[in-house]
Amino acid sequence: MSQATPRVAAVTGGASGIGLGIVRRLVADGWKVVAGDINAVTLNEAFGDSDEENVVGVSCDVSVESHVARLVETAVERFGRLDCMVNNAGISGAFGPIHELDVAHWDFTFGVLARGVFLGTKHATRQFLAQGGGGSIVNMCSIAAWDGGTGPQAYSAAKAAVQNLTWSTAAELAEHRIRVNAVAPGSVITPMWMKGRDQSDVDRALQLQPLKEPTTSEHVAEAVAFLAAPEPAMITGTCVAVDGGISAAGTDLARRLGNNPGDLKISGLNMGTSGTKSVVNVLGD
Ligand SMILES: NC(=O)c1ccc[n+]([C@@H]2O[C@H](COP(=O)([O-])OP(=O)(O)OC[C@H]3O[C@@H](n4cnc5c(N)ncnc54)[C@H](O)[C@@H]3O)[C@@H](O)[C@H]2O)c1
Repeated sequence: MSQATPRVAAVTGGASGIGLGIVRRLVADGWKVVAGDINAVTLNEAFGDSDEENVVGVSCDVSVESHVARLVETAVERFGRLDCMVNNAGISGAFGPIHELDVAHWDFTFGVLARGVFLGTKHATRQFLAQGGGGSIVNMCSIAAWDGGTGPQAYSAAKAAVQNLTWSTAAELAEHRIRVNAVAPGSVITPMWMKGRDQSDVDRALQLQPLKEPTTSEHVAEAVAFLAAPEPAMITGTCVAVDGGISAAGTDLARRLGNNPGDLKISGLNMGTSGTKSVVNVLGD
């Protein structure tokens, strides 16, 4: 859907995977987009030869404040304003046993994942305020933020920081009509996800996902496009899981212990130790 006055977005990590999916989706929706990325090769592949006038690629390291400030300035110089900042850039970061982790690797991970989101929020907010308020920020969180069993320690902790920064800035910036939301993907088969993995890992990831189709960058972009636009005017501080139901299933203990309701051949009312007889109906009778 295109608008009379085009909306303008900046998307970090826009040269690959989920970020590229978001850029393409926003452009298809009629937005003008500045895509920032640290990888000059993929940035050039994605946007270098493009005679597309609705999108521009910018070299940007989200952990460096002057780069993020420049990204926002580019949006204003090229397209006149900023309506949405998508803080998406990411790496898997530090990995290994906690007692072997290198402090520099931990800090680097937080520099990209947490400081990057802070800087994107800071400089987008400055521009939104200069425009008189309004605007939308969408942060790339992860279901790894919500438990201790999904991602590497530094990655999960940094994404938990992103989750909380989304809440705190949503509350802080509401008076300026700036909405801040997040999206939490599960397993999305992108270049980052595939690094060091093969098809057997894809198959295993699908087994853990209640909805059995692969989650794609386009699925994540669908949620981002919704939150980016001004139409969901009263939605702020929320985090939308795009995970095919992984977080809904949680530990999946019922299924793993053989008590999955959908597999039972009986229904009824378990009265526990109340002294009253339980009700058991054999299904199909
Ligand atoms: N793929 C998944 O399953 C999954 C799940 C949950 C969350 N996420 C999050 O989604 C986001 C995108 O991941 P993806 O899977 O598309 O990965 P990807 O590797 O395909 O894309 C990430 C992009 O970020 C860029 N980037 C890395 N460091 C940067 C920096 N310092 N400054 C600017 N750009 C930088 C990369 O060059 C790359 O283009 C990340 O924040 C990631 O943590 C991904």
